[in-house]
Amino acid sequence: MTVSVVVVMSVDGKLTRHDESDIHKWVSDEDQEFFRPLLASHDVIIMGRNTYEAVQPNLRLDQPIRRIVLTSHPQQFTEQALLDIRKARSSPDLSNSAANGFSSFDVSTDTSSSDKTVFARVNSPLERTILRKSSIKDRLEFRNEKSTDLVKRLKREGIKKVLIVGGPRIISELLKGKLIDFLYLTIEPRLFGQGVLLLDSFPIDIELNLVEHKELNKKGTILLKYSLKQTQ
Ligand SMILES: NC(=O)c1ccc[n+]([C@@H]2O[C@H](COP(=O)([O-])OP(=O)(O)OC[C@H]3O[C@@H](n4cnc5c(N)ncnc54)[C@H](OP(=O)(O)O)[C@@H]3O)[C@@H](O)[C@H]2O)c1
Repeated sequence: MTVSVVVVMSVDGKLTRHDESDIHKWVSDEDQEFFRPLLASHDVIIMGRNTYEAVQPNLRLDQPIRRIVLTSHPQQFTEQALLDIRKARSSPDLSNSAANGFSSFDVSTDTSSSDKTVFARVNSPLERTILRKSSIKDRLEFRNEKSTDLVKRLKREGIKKVLIVGGPRIISELLKGKLIDFLYLTIEPRLFGQGVLLLDSFPIDIELNLVEHKELNKKGTILLKYSLKQTQ
């Protein structure tokens, strides 16, 4: 299994512009053009809860990608999923959905895991819109699990390619656990002075090998791919 990290940062190493969580306000179109196919080429995407909340409005749950969000409160999100589903069921728009050829919700609770996870299967654009924040089987899961344990479990499950999209806590934990194989780093030609850093503050010295580098546009956005060679 390969584990890759992908981030975009300013020249001074900030993952966010000051306190702003929405990176789409400053990342280049060319970085997004690189990022989308990279996402689609991985079996599982892992992110922290804050990263999920930042990207949630742009999540395309119709794409068959398995996303796992780490949070110490997975139940909060699954309860929200149930509320959304109940609300949707009583909505006149959805009660008419069968007549429009839309399927009904298929809701189940997975009690096999320590954190109960509610899954809802959706098949129509309307349902997808309503369930944007919900857990959707094989698409979106909320888990309270150490990131290193999660990655090792995915390996045992036979998953081939895992992509970590942040944030710093998860990246730092996996680095300490020597579980990262590749780092994709886009550098946007900007200086922010203040913002979220790539890693938590702890002493490490890991040598990287440059595998690939590319100028993504004329204004100077650079894509770097490094291998870490630290996997056990
Ligand atoms: N420029 C980029 O490429 C890039 C990439 C990623 C993120 N970002 C930005 O960076 C910011 C997020 O940074 P962040 O430091 O807050 O990181 P984050 O990892 O997205 O969120 C941290 C949260 O994730 C949960 N979490 C992380 N590890 C966990 C674990 N092992 N077990 C259980 N829960 C775990 C916790 O959520 P709970 O509090 O719910 O327990 C924790 O508070 C966002 O604004 C995002 O937009 C930018």
